[in-house]
Amino acid sequence: MRKTYRSTDVEVTFDLGICIHVGECLRGEPAVFQLERRPWILPDAGGAIAEVIHRCPSGALQYRRLDGGPEETYETTTATPIKNGPLLVVGDIDVRHEDGTVERLPRATLCRCGQSRNKPFCDNEHLRIKFEAPGAQLKIHLTPVRPREDEPIQKAADPRA
Ligand code: SF4
Ligand code: FES
Repeated sequence: MRKTYRSTDVEVTFDLGICIHVGECLRGEPAVFQLERRPWILPDAGGAIAEVIHRCPSGALQYRRLDGGPEETYETTTATPIKNGPLLVVGDIDVRHEDGTVERLPRATLCRCGQSRNKPFCDNEHLRIKFEAPGAQLKIHLTPVRPREDEPIQKAADPRA
């Protein structure tokens, strides 16, 4: 479920259900994204929030400007296979859910190994089955939600749940 965090200038939303725990948020703007604080996102606390959110590969983080500033837009949609992992798609992505609703995402990591229990999204099952396939390297930042490169914490244990 997507949660909303609002400041006067920007509204940030987060969906833990599609986060793949690469830690760009926690590393990129530690004043904005703090695991142990409630709320864990304070959009006012840092300046580079849009840039950091653009680097969130899964689309778990999104933003909407409330100050008339530029929104996240793309002229084309690109799909990049990630080495031993999902397909990274960046652009306008319409995902049709089982209940018929359509969600538009600017970024998404889609399952390529076939084992995700949250298709079409990656849920890191590729790590457990040791999926191997060529592709671009995705930088993983070790954080409390990803203490080891091959072992993100369970979603139920995630302090952001
Ligand atoms: S996918 Fe990475 S950057 Fe995006 S919310 Fe999850 S940990 Fe943060
Ligand atoms: S590619 Fe990540 S779960 Fe399939």
